[in-house]
Amino acid sequence: MLRTHNCGELGIKDVKSNVTLCGWAQKIRDKGKIIWIDLRDRYGITQLMFEEDSSDKNTFDIAKKCGREYVIKVSGEVSERISKNPNISTGDIEIKVSEMEYLNVSEVPPFTIEDETDGGEDLRMKYRYLDLRRSPLQKNIFLRHKLMSETRNYLNSQEFIEIETPVLIKSTPEGARDFIVPSRMNQGEYYALPQSPQTFKQLLMVSGYDKYYQLVKCFRDEDLRADRQPEFTQIDCEMSFVTREDVLKSFGKLINHLFNEVLKTDIGEIPIMQYDEAINSYGSDKPDLRFGMRFRDISSIVQGNGFKVFDDSEVILSIKVKGASSYSRKELDELTNFVKKPQIGSKGLVYIKCNEDGSFKSSVDKFYTQEILNDIANVNNAKKNDLILILAGEKSQTFSAMSSLRILMGDRLGLRDPNNFKPIWIVDFPMFSYDKESNDYHAMHHPFTSPISSDTKLLDSEPIKAKANAYDLVINGVEIGGGSIRIHQRILQEKVFKILGFSSKEANDQFGFLLNAFRYGTPPHGGIAFGFDRLCALFAGKESIRDFIAFPKNTSGRDTMIDSPSAIDEDQLKELGL
Ligand code: AMO
Repeated sequence: MLRTHNCGELGIKDVKSNVTLCGWAQKIRDKGKIIWIDLRDRYGITQLMFEEDSSDKNTFDIAKKCGREYVIKVSGEVSERISKNPNISTGDIEIKVSEMEYLNVSEVPPFTIEDETDGGEDLRMKYRYLDLRRSPLQKNIFLRHKLMSETRNYLNSQEFIEIETPVLIKSTPEGARDFIVPSRMNQGEYYALPQSPQTFKQLLMVSGYDKYYQLVKCFRDEDLRADRQPEFTQIDCEMSFVTREDVLKSFGKLINHLFNEVLKTDIGEIPIMQYDEAINSYGSDKPDLRFGMRFRDISSIVQGNGFKVFDDSEVILSIKVKGASSYSRKELDELTNFVKKPQIGSKGLVYIKCNEDGSFKSSVDKFYTQEILNDIANVNNAKKNDLILILAGEKSQTFSAMSSLRILMGDRLGLRDPNNFKPIWIVDFPMFSYDKESNDYHAMHHPFTSPISSDTKLLDSEPIKAKANAYDLVINGVEIGGGSIRIHQRILQEKVFKILGFSSKEANDQFGFLLNAFRYGTPPHGGIAFGFDRLCALFAGKESIRDFIAFPKNTSGRDTMIDSPSAIDEDQLKELGL
């Protein structure tokens, strides 16, 4: 190696040793007769010192001309610093440089490459390779590596084997659009990039590889959000001869292992919640359980008292906000404006303040006696100084609006601590959703999910009532993973395709390979896939997955660094028959 040490390892124990370091000149302070340079590599920062009076003249001249981000090699003696820096691991020492060499020069970088940078988002995306030199991003990439290797360690130790599946395939429906690749050799025909390796992992079960996993890239052409990228990574897993309980247990242990090894945190056994309870109590199949504020339906208490808004509503929901009765008019107006935003869609917000003296003050005092307000407070288990917030309206809109209001209040009250982890398995999802306009059924998870066995007969009579043998892992309100016990009988799979609107020709054209495989001894099987990028962001207490991917796309699905997607030339189009 060109160096004897890295920039993060020297300390007081090394004083008087002669060392050689390599790295980037991050910060240069030229005080005339003394120059200090912060030398950076991925391990840390070491301070270099050059003195006109005591350094070699040639070395001092080289240091004088050094620019930001020059790649340099220095040799010298480790010495104790007079003014120490407790914020970095090497803060007790500096190197008195006797020799210095440029390994390469650098143009002035477009933004400062320090923990706090002056570069805007777009600029940093364009020069991602420079942004990746910064320690906050490097920490994310190291965390990703650690999670990846611990995932492999754990699954390998449990006799799972990693098997790669192809990327140029045919559509695998996971609810998004496919990315399509034209075939030059088969003009007019196209590959699709996998939205997941779902069908392949099921075929591997048919082949007898009863514990499979893969850290795998998936591709989905869908609108981007903080927790969505068009290409992202899954920890994709499948097992044969298992029940739902076996799957939850096996992969609950994986998640526990990752928390223990990477964050040194014990999250304990992951509890299970029914989908219906999640919706009724939190208005979401991804409840954030770091705080309470369960919904209470107060329709039976408040309807029939002459308040038209409530009397005309399908449902009236309330939540208790602890200790918030001192909310001012202005704060309550802000909350009202929030719920009236078009994306939330409520017509207004009703509140009840639980006063210090045991009385109640509400925005609907005209219609409700103190007794009724007391009943509402009791249902919500509200005490003095608490605030009750109420939304009313059409059922699904009101549940979803209350869910958004609950999250907002959780944020306002500081109840969503990113270092507090509350995982939950959500189970018993409906098998299908129904679109009234198109008269279509859609798979809530995907078409390969089996119904819970007691609901199989409902597929013939009332499919909308059937529950799926599916589960999601939700942590702090984020869907981290999802899976199901699969259909492994051809007849049942054909029936589900039919409910989903596939003619038997369409089912055979698209999934004939799977239906055929089911003729040859398919074991019962099930599995799960975790969103690996989401797991990384969660472990770091962040919401956006972008900074946990070395080279991500921006919100328009573009990579501005390589300028992709981009047009291709006429010849290439012709060659592809396009
Ligand atoms: P699902 O579609 O639920 O299931 O995906 C599994 C997990 O992948 C993550 N995820 C994403 N992460 C980042 N960007 C995206 N665009 C994105 N889309 C999904 C989520 C999600 O929970 N084949 C099934 C799994 C199975 O049944 O075994 C599947 O892909 O964290």
